[in-house]
Amino acid sequence: MPLPALQKFERKIERQIRLLELSKIIIERKIDRQIRLFEQRRDSIGKKIETQIRQFERKRGIRLDDEVHFIRSWIERPLSIGAVTPSGRNLARTMARYVDPNSDGPVVELGPGTGPVTEALVEAGVDPARLVLVEFNPGFCRILRTRYPEATLVQGDAYSLRRLLEALLIQPAAAVVSGLPLVTKPIRERWRLVRDAFDLMVPGAPFVQFTYSVASPLPKRLGGFSAEASERIWMNIPPARVWIYRKAQD
Ligand SMILES: C[S@@+](CC[C@H](N)C(=O)[O-])C[C@H]1O[C@@H](n2cnc3c(N)ncnc32)[C@H](O)[C@@H]1O
Repeated sequence: MPLPALQKFERKIERQIRLLELSKIIIERKIDRQIRLFEQRRDSIGKKIETQIRQFERKRGIRLDDEVHFIRSWIERPLSIGAVTPSGRNLARTMARYVDPNSDGPVVELGPGTGPVTEALVEAGVDPARLVLVEFNPGFCRILRTRYPEATLVQGDAYSLRRLLEALLIQPAAAVVSGLPLVTKPIRERWRLVRDAFDLMVPGAPFVQFTYSVASPLPKRLGGFSAEASERIWMNIPPARVWIYRKAQD
């Protein structure tokens, strides 16, 4: 290409780059504005819900601190919390029913939140010192630490279960009880988590999972495990079901 033509081409490219940079700045500013608007709206909805809960508390003379905490966390991270209120007593008790309190070894709970299932496990006779609670929300961890000081609390991502617990568990777990919103994850990740849990448990021990979905969070076609379902628990908001998975014995 002759020199003047090359210089003209370079100037054209530079102009286009400047235009693209300008567009990038404009788009980034628009996105920032949208995020700020969204956050303001989210905070005001959160405050309204909290005010309504506090009015309800005053009328009924009760305290609903766990519910308020749960809703605040849900507003911040809806997909990871996966529910707007803690599990009700019926659901928590149904989950605890599948754990044998006289079995040996730790009982691992994934996503205990404010601890309704933990409470049901303890009520059912599981020694709190056997509990290993894996929760990643710092606010929930603070609550769990004061309510269950004898339990081992692991603040971390339950989907890295092998890394978190391999060295910590001195003997295979007797059960894994999960309140994680499993269905928000791709099936491949759900299955990896459950297989990791099987490897950390006594052969045949239960992986107990609740869900609001109609179908099993682990499709049977994956194979390699048995599945059992509880009755639907209608006295929960929303109604839920408990699934119990066990590794297939060779
Ligand atoms: C649907 S709530 C259930 C809470 C409690 N088990 C109950 O029944 O009320 C899900 C819980 O899982 C926790 N969670 C979600 N993803 C997690 C992860 N990857 N690792 C650890 N905890 C997680 C949330 O912070 C929340 O406490």
